[in-house]
Amino acid sequence: MSKIKRIGILTSGGDCAGLNAAIRAVTHRAIGTYDWEVFGICRATHGLMHRPPEYIQFGLSDTYPLLTLGGTILGTTNKGNPFAYPMPDGSLRDRSEEIIAGYHQMNLDALIGIGGDGSLAILRQLAQQGGINLVAIPKTIDNDLGSTERSVGFDTAVNIATEALDRLHFTAASHSRVMILEVMGRDAGHIALNAGIAGGADIILIPEIAYTIDNVCQAIEQLHQRGRNFALMVVAESVCDETGCKVTQTNRLGQCRLGGIGQYLADTISDCSGAETRVTVLGHVQRGGVPSPLDRVLASAFGVAAVDLIAEGKFDHMVSWYDRDVISVPIAEAIAQYRAVDPDDILVRTARSIGICFGDHAVKLDAARR
Ligand code: F6P
Repeated sequence: MSKIKRIGILTSGGDCAGLNAAIRAVTHRAIGTYDWEVFGICRATHGLMHRPPEYIQFGLSDTYPLLTLGGTILGTTNKGNPFAYPMPDGSLRDRSEEIIAGYHQMNLDALIGIGGDGSLAILRQLAQQGGINLVAIPKTIDNDLGSTERSVGFDTAVNIATEALDRLHFTAASHSRVMILEVMGRDAGHIALNAGIAGGADIILIPEIAYTIDNVCQAIEQLHQRGRNFALMVVAESVCDETGCKVTQTNRLGQCRLGGIGQYLADTISDCSGAETRVTVLGHVQRGGVPSPLDRVLASAFGVAAVDLIAEGKFDHMVSWYDRDVISVPIAEAIAQYRAVDPDDILVRTARSIGICFGDHAVKLDAARR
């Protein structure tokens, strides 16, 4: 007989679509099946750092609007590692014990952490240090977390990027332009690869496959020779420039973020090919809005399975999507394996087979027209 009575749930790291759908499923399963109490902790671990701890108690009637709601009703943060927490005087302080004390003050029997690799690593460290019964649900638009084929939020981001390509297609054709769409994904090219295929891109540049500008310009020229007056390109934000450096932007506080590879490519491509180029940077649009049906389904399946893991006492595990089933894997295993795009992945091979260029090979041009 399980001794669980009260569970906490928090969202941590960057938001994405589908987080609220996961909270809804957890609440339904925990209250409806097991008769537990469910407490949503506000603003990731900040809610446990706060005194008194900040939380919302969920009842079954609170779950009604959650399925389709974007973002996270609990709030989140991707800043402030509690083991080196930035204090107002500029110093860094280890605040992990405050979070652990917050969990115990709330008399929680277990905690569900919804996060990506960075958040789950922090949550696991807290759990090990403070005797927190942790179970994890993977979420990230980047889809780069190990040991799961899918994470919550990825599908919605791909849908949004695909829709952007669908729209760019017409304006590109109308103006005979090369249209470049820069998408998120951190160090992985999953969004660019999936949206590129789905959205009919001619060129996909991802960090996992090295390109040259010459090869890209030749691919554009080949399209031209075949009678196309435009080209669609999708580029992942962490693709490097030709010197091998990531393109970043620094704000006035000195904080540095990925961004700008699209404009770099537009400038270099128009120099080498003479093509008129335009850039769209999709940014946080990919994280917002109503979750796709697939993300709602995934979040629901993950939420139920996470509660069941707690009931089984299978802590320190993450629910995972594998071969159209939900399984569980040790959190340590999931965070140890960064999941980049395999350059020999079936989707890369599919893209190549339908003529999509990754910029890594020279394409054949009609010699008479070069
Ligand atoms: O990890 C999710 C993600 O959206 C990345 O794709 C992107 O590089 C980053 O977060 C953006 O972070 P922020 O919300 O801090 O700008």
